[in-house]
Amino acid sequence: MSNFVPTHIPVLPKEILEYFHEIENKENPIFLDGTAGEGGHSELLLKEFPKAKLILNDRDSIMLGRASARLEAFSGRFFPLEGNFSEVSTEDIQERIGQDKVDGILLDLGISTFHLTSSERGFSFKNEEYLDMRLDETSKLTAFEVLNKYKAEKLSQIFREYGEENWTKKIVEKILLVRKKNPIRTTLDLAKLVESVIPRKFWPDKTHPSFRVFQAVRIEVNNELGHIREGLENLANLLNQGGILCVISFHSLEDRIVKQVFKEISKDERFSVLTKKPIITNDEEIKLNPSSRSAKLRVLKAI
Ligand SMILES: C[S@@+](CC[C@H](N)C(=O)[O-])C[C@H]1O[C@@H](n2cnc3c(N)ncnc32)[C@H](O)[C@@H]1O
Repeated sequence: MSNFVPTHIPVLPKEILEYFHEIENKENPIFLDGTAGEGGHSELLLKEFPKAKLILNDRDSIMLGRASARLEAFSGRFFPLEGNFSEVSTEDIQERIGQDKVDGILLDLGISTFHLTSSERGFSFKNEEYLDMRLDETSKLTAFEVLNKYKAEKLSQIFREYGEENWTKKIVEKILLVRKKNPIRTTLDLAKLVESVIPRKFWPDKTHPSFRVFQAVRIEVNNELGHIREGLENLANLLNQGGILCVISFHSLEDRIVKQVFKEISKDERFSVLTKKPIITNDEEIKLNPSSRSAKLRVLKAI
């Protein structure tokens, strides 16, 4: 028996299961968890649908290892696939389960609690860590390079677009000044730099003033929005008739893309959006899991 101890709590668990009960093939469904993380949602699905098989995908090999360890008890029913959800192909599915398509796909976007608290890759402003922020350690661009090599215009663009940061101009000025003398090397270098720029009376109540800058750099390093934009249509086309695609996003930039791309896809009469408005977490869930507070679920069906 695995002694795996999860750090991440899966969000909207009840709602996800309810939507997956809408798939037509409920007897022997095939699922694709495109963002396995620690396998919390995958575990729920494998329990709820006792004859289901599941492809377990993550671009982070460490997470895929953690999810596989967690799911040890379901050995023979889940099939790991390391890579980007935007690139999953019919061949990948065929190789693992002998079919071309699947009945349910889940994307739970962003990073896991494990990344923030324990990965030591510089995702959090709380611990002193080297500014790496790559989900996929085979990719080249790191947060260090973004902060120390990007020109002012490019930095301003990512802080504005991906962080919606009002203090962009002053933060970029300070970055240029600091890095002339010494590189910005660690998470605390960055967190303190932002603290020194934003007056205390403008700091947010529930988080650190640098959280927007951290979010922006992480999105840039991992091209997170690009993969959502490129990936959703590809994934929708991997659904069997009667299949469901559930996408959970965590900030307005992601949700806007999911909404737009679902609208585009559903111009094709083979698809229909089941959620007119996104499903959000209730107070009870937020109390149990405060990081679920910004989650939004949108669902697409192949009809
Ligand atoms: C919020 S966590 C998922 C948590 C998971 N649902 C659970 O219950 O444990 C998001 C995961 O998606 C992965 N990820 C992010 N972008 C990805 C992409 N484009 N392709 C594949 N995996 C990705 C991250 O590495 C992370 O492990």
